[in-house]
Amino acid sequence: MTIKQSDTTSRQLTFAVPKGRILDEALPVMARAGVVPEDGFHDKANRSLSFGTTRDDMRLIRVRAFDVATFVAHGAAQVGIVGSDVVEEFDYADLYAPVDLDFGHCRLSVARLADDPEDASAASHIRVATKYPSLTARHYERQGIQAECVKLNGAMELAPSLGLARQIVDLVSTGATLKQNGLVETQRIIDISARLIVNRAALKTDPRVAELVDAFRSVAEERAKEQAA
Ligand code: PRP
Repeated sequence: MTIKQSDTTSRQLTFAVPKGRILDEALPVMARAGVVPEDGFHDKANRSLSFGTTRDDMRLIRVRAFDVATFVAHGAAQVGIVGSDVVEEFDYADLYAPVDLDFGHCRLSVARLADDPEDASAASHIRVATKYPSLTARHYERQGIQAECVKLNGAMELAPSLGLARQIVDLVSTGATLKQNGLVETQRIIDISARLIVNRAALKTDPRVAELVDAFRSVAEERAKEQAA
C-alpha cells in the first residue's frame, strides 16, 4: 500500500528572501542550511520572482523586505529571512522569529541636519520622515513627543534639507549616507540583525518548517563558534 503524504507536506514550501544588501550575506548561510536556489536566481536579467531550489519541495520568492514579513505572516510563504527592524515594525502575531542569524548588522537611528539650529528635543511635536511609522511613533512617545510620521519608501535622507521633515528615522550601517547628505545621527533606537522567520501555524502543522528552524539554528551556532575561534 502506498502511503499518502498529508496535504501539508505534499505542498511546496515557499521561502521568502529580501532583495538588497542582506541577500548577499543570506545566501551562504542558506546554503549551509540546505536552501540553494536554481542558477536562474543569480541571473540579473531574469525577471522571474519565484525560483526553484535544489529541493523539489521548496521554492524561493524574492520580494521587498517588508513584503517578506507580510507573505510569511499570512502563510503565503512559510519561512523567510528578514531584518529584525521589519519584524519589530509589524509585530505580526502570526510571525515567529526563532533564530538570530547574526548578519546584516545595522541600527535604526534618528538623524537631523548637522546644522539644524533648533533643539528639537525640546519640542512636544515633531515631523519625522521614515519607512518605520510604528517604531518611530513608539520611540518618540517614550520621550513624551508626538511624532507626525511622513511615510517614505527610500531616500529619507533628502527630507530634512528639502523641508519635508525636521528629523528622519532610518537604517544606518556605515553612516556614509547620512554624512554625504549633511545629516548627523542623534539617537540609536534599536540594533538590528537578520532573523529567520516562520509562520506560526506552518511551524505547528508542517514538520519541514521545524526542520528548517533546527537547520538554521545549527548553522547559526556553528558560525558563532567559527567566529569565536
Ligand atoms: C539603507 C538606508 C540608508 C543606507 C544606510 O538604504 O535606508 O539609506 O542604507 O547605509 P550606510 O549607513 O552604510 O550609508 P539602502 O541602500 O538599503 O536602500 P533603500 O533606500 O532602498 O532602503
